[in-house]
Amino acid sequence: MIILVNNLSDHQERVRARKIGQIANRELQHDGPIYHESESADSRDIHLYLYVSDVRVVGFAIFEKRDYVSKYTWDEYDKKIEKELKEHSPIWSLGLIWFHKKYRKTGVATHLFQICLNHLKIGINDIGLYTPFTKEGEAWARATFEKEFIIAK
Ligand SMILES: CC(C)(COP(=O)(O)OP(=O)(O)OC[C@H]1O[C@@H](n2cnc3c(N)ncnc32)[C@H](O)[C@@H]1OP(=O)(O)O)[C@@H](O)C(=O)NCCC(=O)NCCS
Repeated sequence: MIILVNNLSDHQERVRARKIGQIANRELQHDGPIYHESESADSRDIHLYLYVSDVRVVGFAIFEKRDYVSKYTWDEYDKKIEKELKEHSPIWSLGLIWFHKKYRKTGVATHLFQICLNHLKIGINDIGLYTPFTKEGEAWARATFEKEFIIAK
């Protein structure tokens, strides 16, 4: 089951989103919290998709609308070519995708990602990504985006 948490969601679902974000953060140690239930509605229009297995949330993907964008080929990325992000009409960007360790490498992230793209009604060529990647995030992105991808922040 997938649960969407956005600014229309009730308190209980938002708290669930914050808690799984905290578990992810224990591993990833982002600067700030990934999500908080007090998050107010703004132009980012945060959409957090919780992946529930039995009754437990075991992973999630968080999307936001972002308006600074640049396209990269993997070749450009590998050569560390610096490209300025250009102001753009807002596009959906994948802020983070995370699964509990024991679920990884089973195709779950790809499955969730596809469901999210369908729900957001966007194609794989129109989604942005937030960087820098983690090592696993980069491996997944290389498998998911064959030649090029968009950075959107
Ligand atoms: C990134 C992450 C969500 C990928 O989840 P996942 O469920 O393992 O990914 P999938 O099983 O859908 O992987 C699809 C393909 O991506 C590639 N891939 C994914 N993780 C990989 C890894 N660690 N090493 C090499 N290739 C990898 C593989 O080609 C894989 O296909 P395969 O299983 O047939 O080989 C997961 O590793 C994770 O939660 N990591 C911690 C959070 C994180 O770093 N998020 C990214 C931030 S940028």
